[in-house]
Amino acid sequence: MSAGEVQRGLEDVVALESQICFIDGAQGRLIYHGYDIRELAEHSTFEEVAYLLWYGRLPTTHQLDELRKRLASLRALPDPVVRILHETPPSANAMDVLRTAVSALALFEPAETQPGASSIGGAQRLTAVLPTILGHFHRGRLGLSPPDPSPDLSHAAWILNAIRGTEASELEVKGMDVALILHADHELNASTFAARVTASTLSDLYSAVTSAIGTLKGPLHGGANERVMELLDEIGTPPRAEEVVKSKLSRHERIMGFGHRVYKVEDPRATILREWSRRIGQAKGNLKFYDLLRSVEQVVHTEKGLYPNVDLYSGSVYTLLGIPRDLFTPLFASSRVVGWTAHVLEEYQDLRLIRPTARYVGPTDLAYVPLEKRG
Ligand code: CMC
Repeated sequence: MSAGEVQRGLEDVVALESQICFIDGAQGRLIYHGYDIRELAEHSTFEEVAYLLWYGRLPTTHQLDELRKRLASLRALPDPVVRILHETPPSANAMDVLRTAVSALALFEPAETQPGASSIGGAQRLTAVLPTILGHFHRGRLGLSPPDPSPDLSHAAWILNAIRGTEASELEVKGMDVALILHADHELNASTFAARVTASTLSDLYSAVTSAIGTLKGPLHGGANERVMELLDEIGTPPRAEEVVKSKLSRHERIMGFGHRVYKVEDPRATILREWSRRIGQAKGNLKFYDLLRSVEQVVHTEKGLYPNVDLYSGSVYTLLGIPRDLFTPLFASSRVVGWTAHVLEEYQDLRLIRPTARYVGPTDLAYVPLEKRG
């Protein structure tokens, strides 16, 4: 790339240095602070990964215990925000609800919003409270009682409880925990970049997360997993996968859950979620989604040589866990908030206003025409 050359979508532009997350797109590896996602998904918990992303090292038993207790103690919402959620139309877009509630929360928690190193308190508060927001909204629209933030539940168990209102099995909690770990960070994706741009103006953490939620809402970033589930509805049974997928490809339609800007091989998160889709499906006696997705994978690979990304199997895991489709992207946010806030904290430590330039391609010498003379 030569100086002055426009790099559309900032593709391949190295915008900053970071110690948080490394994506090896050629090898299909994802690393958080030096640790491979496959090891973290197998052996750690979401709380452990949150500690790793915020502090740059794995916690001791004591530190992990403290963080678990702290997150559990920060789950309740202030009454005015609860009232806003109860006034929200049941048909509201769940990402709009999340964005509005985080923005409203800042009005009642000014101390937590301050930019700087102390933002770690705000990071933990937002991580703890996003599931409560979703629980109030979702249960409210169904006419059910609000979620009860039991301090004994892990973060994954709390999310399932806040949304479903029922106790989850060990396997369900582990499945949710793995999904949260896999979504916690992904380098300079669009929403994280948006959060860092906001923080780079020395704006506050809640504003940065509000920007990030608005950015994640777009279907090219969050939301592909919902569309994958719609595709499965359309296909119905595995033998129909070939016909439906080929017909979409012939119309130059994109098949959601495939392809990636950075991974040139299979997204490692897809590999792990495929196995969880099978495991939870088997436990629930419902391998329909898994079987359908395997068929779709085969056709897309043969026809286009494309590999699955994180979104191919995540929707099936969430559906099997009883999460409604419109909460898939808010759930993504409930995990990615850890990455967003870790990046904002890093930005505050090495602050440089993010302000690229544009190559102007419009005219420069037009003569002003008075209003009354314009026809
Ligand atoms: N279905 C069909 N064709 C595809 C797809 C797809 N999902 N993805 C890429 N292609 C084709 C595309 O049509 C193009 O072909 P051609 O050169 O013949 O025009 C070629 O592959 C390159 O596409 P591109 O748009 O230049 O590639 P990109 O790196 O900009 O695309 C992407 C990345 C994720 C936007 C794209 O793969 C896509 O639209 N995928 C579907 C949406 C999706 O699953 N999104 C979730 C991404 S993972 C989220 C995360 O990591 O946080």
